[in-house]
Amino acid sequence: MTETVLLVGGGGREHAIARAVADDCALYACASNRNPGIRRLADGFEAIAETDAEAVADYATAVGADIAVIGPESALAAGVADALDEVGVYAFGPQAEEARLETDKAYQREFMDEADIPGCPDYEVFDDVEAACEYIDAYDGDLAVKPTGLTGGKGVKVIGDQVTSGEAKAYLRDSDYERVVLEERLVGEEFTVQAFVANGELRTTPAVQDHKRAYEGDEGPNTGGMGSYTDTGLSLPFMAEGDYDAAVDVLEAVVDALPDYKGVLYGQFMLTDAGPKVVEFNARFGDPEAMNTLPVLETPFLDVLTAARDDDALPELSFSGEATVCKYAVPDGYPTDPDAGAKIAVDEDSVGDALLYYASVDERDDGLYTTTSRSFAVVGRGDSIATAEAQAEDALAAAGDRVRIRHDIGTADLVQRRIDHMAELRE
Ligand code: AMP
Ligand code: GLY
Repeated sequence: MTETVLLVGGGGREHAIARAVADDCALYACASNRNPGIRRLADGFEAIAETDAEAVADYATAVGADIAVIGPESALAAGVADALDEVGVYAFGPQAEEARLETDKAYQREFMDEADIPGCPDYEVFDDVEAACEYIDAYDGDLAVKPTGLTGGKGVKVIGDQVTSGEAKAYLRDSDYERVVLEERLVGEEFTVQAFVANGELRTTPAVQDHKRAYEGDEGPNTGGMGSYTDTGLSLPFMAEGDYDAAVDVLEAVVDALPDYKGVLYGQFMLTDAGPKVVEFNARFGDPEAMNTLPVLETPFLDVLTAARDDDALPELSFSGEATVCKYAVPDGYPTDPDAGAKIAVDEDSVGDALLYYASVDERDDGLYTTTSRSFAVVGRGDSIATAEAQAEDALAAAGDRVRIRHDIGTADLVQRRIDHMAELRE
């Protein structure tokens, strides 16, 4: 029987999901933007806001969807999984209550405490900005300042890294945040491990390192992620033996505490001198990380989805063993003042063996336009990070001059800096 899958979301992550299932199912998609890559792969597309739970559920019913995959956190927070489950369409994505693991950073830390999940930093939750400012003044050391709600990865400020304590206080006082988490600043190298979760089980995928800062050399404001890489195995060059397994232990503890969780569980870790600590959990694939993971997944992703739905054991995953390097092209001025509505040209014929993923672009009758978010990405693959990086760079000839790229992602220099940083911390 051919399964009918509905994909919710129109970014690079969702283009990667579409490519992972399109050959094996009837695929429909809905999103607020018209992503040309997804539209080409889908049998049908409808422009629907990802947060309009009722409209998504109506569309799922209209196309006869058996399974839905939800890309963005905004949809999870809006109860899209709940609405789909209610109309009898299995949503591979947690219901809003369980997505609080991502959508409410105070809940996330309290949950870790209560369920005894390893790797939780010291933290305090404040409902009052002035009390938070007093805590900053009295604290001996650096803190991460985290608004509790969704901010697209751009709301967190780290004292001693991005801001001074004075700037952090001014940031809080100028904001209208009602709750804020203050937690010990973790020092180390970040990495992500994503797991497919259903029926109380999980299957993990290779570690990925994303690059949050807007500019080369890890300078500038935080973004949704400028690009990312994986190595040929499960681990990354700066990680030591046991670090990947320690991260998986954390994810297993979460699944044990939330046996009804379904979808992708994304752990963001800081590898410190004392091992991996949890920066946050997300309740969906990472973007860009999905573009590193799905192209090297040899197990059909549809098999994961159907096993999840049918209460079967999830398949053991196999991967191609290639390294990957993903580089995003973003509008000029992103993330603070993005040049939205700029007409861009993408030369698909010049990407060679690399993969091209369209992201938050809008396809209109007369061409392709930027939005306020990331535009498209290229992914190189190879038998080493260096080979994958070179392939991604060659493909960026397709990018034109109205977008910006972090060319340093995945380069030997930057990877070596990560290795040296960890060696220094672990001395
Ligand atoms: P989050 O939205 O929680 O992922 O935070 C965004 C980014 O802020 C993370 O990817 C880290 O780079 C940084 N960050 C968050 N929490 C901490 C922390 N406790 N210590 C150091 N950096 C942090
Ligand atoms: N790349 C970070 C995220 O998807 O949250």
